[in-house]
Amino acid sequence: MAAERIYREVQDYYGKELKKTEDLKANACLTSAKPVPKHIREAMQCVHEEVSAKYYGCGLVIPDCLEDCWILDLGCGSGRDCYMLSKLVGENGHVTGVDMTEAQVELAKKHIDYHMNKFGYQKPNINFICGYMEKLGEAGLRDDSYDLVISNCVVNLSPDKCAVLREAYRILKNGGEMYFSDVYASQDLPETIRKHRVLWGECLGGALCWKDLYRIAEQVGFYPPRLVAASQITLANKELENLVGDCKFVSATFRLFKIPRECSAGCTEVIYKGGIPGHERELEFDINYSFKQGEVVDVDDETAAILQNSRFSRMFLIHPISQKLLTPEGYCSRKLKEKIKDPFKLVEQLKAKDPAQSSSGCCGSKGCC
Ligand SMILES: C[S@@+](CC[C@H](N)C(=O)[O-])C[C@H]1O[C@@H](n2cnc3c(N)ncnc32)[C@H](O)[C@@H]1O
Repeated sequence: MAAERIYREVQDYYGKELKKTEDLKANACLTSAKPVPKHIREAMQCVHEEVSAKYYGCGLVIPDCLEDCWILDLGCGSGRDCYMLSKLVGENGHVTGVDMTEAQVELAKKHIDYHMNKFGYQKPNINFICGYMEKLGEAGLRDDSYDLVISNCVVNLSPDKCAVLREAYRILKNGGEMYFSDVYASQDLPETIRKHRVLWGECLGGALCWKDLYRIAEQVGFYPPRLVAASQITLANKELENLVGDCKFVSATFRLFKIPRECSAGCTEVIYKGGIPGHERELEFDINYSFKQGEVVDVDDETAAILQNSRFSRMFLIHPISQKLLTPEGYCSRKLKEKIKDPFKLVEQLKAKDPAQSSSGCCGSKGCC
């Protein structure tokens, strides 16, 4: 489909056709397998019900260690995630939401005062802009200006995913992170699916094959994506099910870091000092790495470079691995575990562990994600 037509149809879909979360025809909304931490639940409960009623996300895009951060939400919709983050970054942080659908942006703006009063802030730490995520420069967003970019079920809707990631990379500071949930396909999608208006609008038709995310992220300059969570999407709609046939879809959350290449750290031992709100005792960084407070963990060079050069650096003690554990070539002789990269594989593993927890269920207006 030509880009202009996609934009127009998606704007109609989210601006006019859908009125509330429950109007979605496919069940692409992720139920978190793990309990949502208390500080996030509390932030969710503060969001105005008119905003929550138009939540169309597919995951939980609230990362850790947020105090004072500057955050940009791509495709913010009615602003549910923005308002949660506005509470979590505190009055000295800032959140910007960008969306191309005017009706959604207007609704988000309407409730700024309500939330600022609720959080007790003297002046707003949030703004909303009507614009395209592929053209953040036109929306006035400058290079190296944000700590975090988040996005919830939006990148799949873009006709130019490379441009979205390129723009996110451009506006992030060094050490910054893109933390986002989206829908991924198990394979390249045939035209019949890609050109179907409802399947595109429902976040399925434009889904990337998951392997392409790794390719595009590398092309743009990000460190390789880190898988945080994944959940199978079940289509609660016979007609759409017949259309998609054998193609499988998951909702997955990834974190992508902007770390200059010269920052490579080599194999390293790290110790989490603790203290991140909501993760005082243990920080689950992604599906492969979890850090208990005070425990020594060996990490590979990519993970070491991320921890050393991002907002996490002050939360860790970081040492090069002891000389006696290095091979003559300088590699760590302790075996590091192999990382899971494929969200479909993760879903299979979760299913084997607990069949009830691996598939998505739709979140209501005050729902789970
Ligand atoms: C599935 S909804 C998700 C909205 C929001 N993130 C949430 O969780 O409720 C997708 C949103 O992305 C916006 N969108 C889609 N393509 C966009 C683009 N190219 N630039 C900006 N916004 C876009 C739509 O207008 C819509 O509000």
